[in-house]
Amino acid sequence: MIDAYLGFLLFVLLKISGGAIIDGTKPLAPKSDAALDLLASRKYCGYQHVDDYNRENDNISIDEFPWIAQLLYGQDKKVLCTGSLINKRYVLVTAHCLVSGRTPLTGVRLGDFNVTSDKDCIKHRDFGEECSDPAEVFEIEETIPHPEFNGSYDNGNDIGLVRLSRDVQYSEYVRPICLPNQESVELRDDEELAVSGWGTLGDFKNLTEIKKKISVKLVALDECQEKFKTVRVTVGPNVLCALERNFVTCRGDSGGPLMRSVKNQWEAIGVLSFGLRCDRGYPALYTDILKYINWIKENLRK
Ligand SMILES: *[C@@H]1O[C@H](CO)[C@@H](O)[C@H](O)[C@H]1NC(C)=O
Ligand SMILES: *[C@@H]1O[C@H](CO)[C@@H](O)[C@H](O)[C@H]1NC(C)=O
Ligand SMILES: *[C@@H]1O[C@H](CO)[C@@H](O)[C@H](O)[C@H]1NC(C)=O
Ligand SMILES: *[C@@H]1O[C@H](CO)[C@@H](O)[C@H](O)[C@H]1NC(C)=O
Repeated sequence: MIDAYLGFLLFVLLKISGGAIIDGTKPLAPKSDAALDLLASRKYCGYQHVDDYNRENDNISIDEFPWIAQLLYGQDKKVLCTGSLINKRYVLVTAHCLVSGRTPLTGVRLGDFNVTSDKDCIKHRDFGEECSDPAEVFEIEETIPHPEFNGSYDNGNDIGLVRLSRDVQYSEYVRPICLPNQESVELRDDEELAVSGWGTLGDFKNLTEIKKKISVKLVALDECQEKFKTVRVTVGPNVLCALERNFVTCRGDSGGPLMRSVKNQWEAIGVLSFGLRCDRGYPALYTDILKYINWIKENLRK
C-alpha cells in the first residue's frame, strides 16, 4: 500500500476509517536563516556528466539522473518507493511513502543503475566501457512526512524528507538535484519534462532492472481536473499533472522526481504522488515542489 498506485485505495480506506494516519510525525526542526543555505548549491546541483557528451541514443546512461534513490523497506530491503537526493544528507520523497503502519523504511540506496548486478557498466560507442562505483546503502536517521498530509491527495501535502544517517560522498554517479526557486523560469503547459524511478514496468509486472527514464508532457491543471472528475478524484491546486509519452510510471515510482532541464542544469519540480493506473492515458499527479520549498528549507538540519 506504499506506492502511489494504491494511493487511491489508501484514500478510500481513510475515508471509511476516518483515522489519523500519521503517527510518525516528528516535531519540526527549529527555523533558522542558516537553513536557507542547506539546499545543494546552484554551483553544482543538477549537473550530470551525460549532458557533456553526444548521446548515442535516447536510452538512459549510467551517469544519468545521479540523484535518484531507491527507498528500501523491511528486513529484505524491498524497493517500494523512489526519492531524489537534494543535499548531502536528505532525500526528497512523498509523505505517503513514509506514513507508518506498514513495512518500515530501512534504507536508501544511491548510485545504482542496474539492480541485478553489483558492478554496473555500459559500453559507449566512442569511448569504450564505463563502470560506476558500487551502489551504496544508507541507514535512516529520521523520516519527516509533511504533517498536514492526511491520505487525501486533494490538497497536496504529499511530500516528505528522509534524513540519512551519514553524509553522502558525491561522485559522477551520486549527485544532488536542484530545487526550483521563485526566480525559476515559468513552466509552459505542454513543456517536455522527464521522470525517473525504480518502480515496476507496468501493472502486474516486475520492478525495472535499469533506472527508468520517462519523458512526460505537462498537462494544464484544469484539463487534469476535468479528467480526474470522471473518476471522482478532486485535483487540488498544489499539484502538477503530467502525461507519459514513452514508458510508464507505476508502483514503486512514487516519490520520483518530475524534472526539467534549464541549460543542462536539472531541477526537480514535482514529486510523483498519485496515479490511477499504470498504462498510458491518465496523467499522473505530482506534488508541486515550489509550493513546499519553504517547508523543505525549514525542515533541513545540518
Ligand atoms: C535502448 O533501450 C531499448 C528499450 O529498453 C532497447 O530495446 C534497446 O536495445 C536499447 N538500445 C541500446 C543501443 O542500448
Ligand atoms: C543488468 O545486469 C544483469 C546481471 O549482470 C545483466 O544480465 C543485464 O544484462 C543487465 N542489464 C542491462 C540492460 O545492462
Ligand atoms: C484532508 O484535509 C483536507 C484539508 O486540509 C480536507 O479537505 C480533507 O477532507 C481531508 N481528508 C481526509 C481524508 O481527512
Ligand atoms: C519477474 O520476477 C520473478 C520473480 O523474481 C521472476 O521469476 C520472473 O522471471 C520475472 N519476470 C520477468 C519477465 O523478468
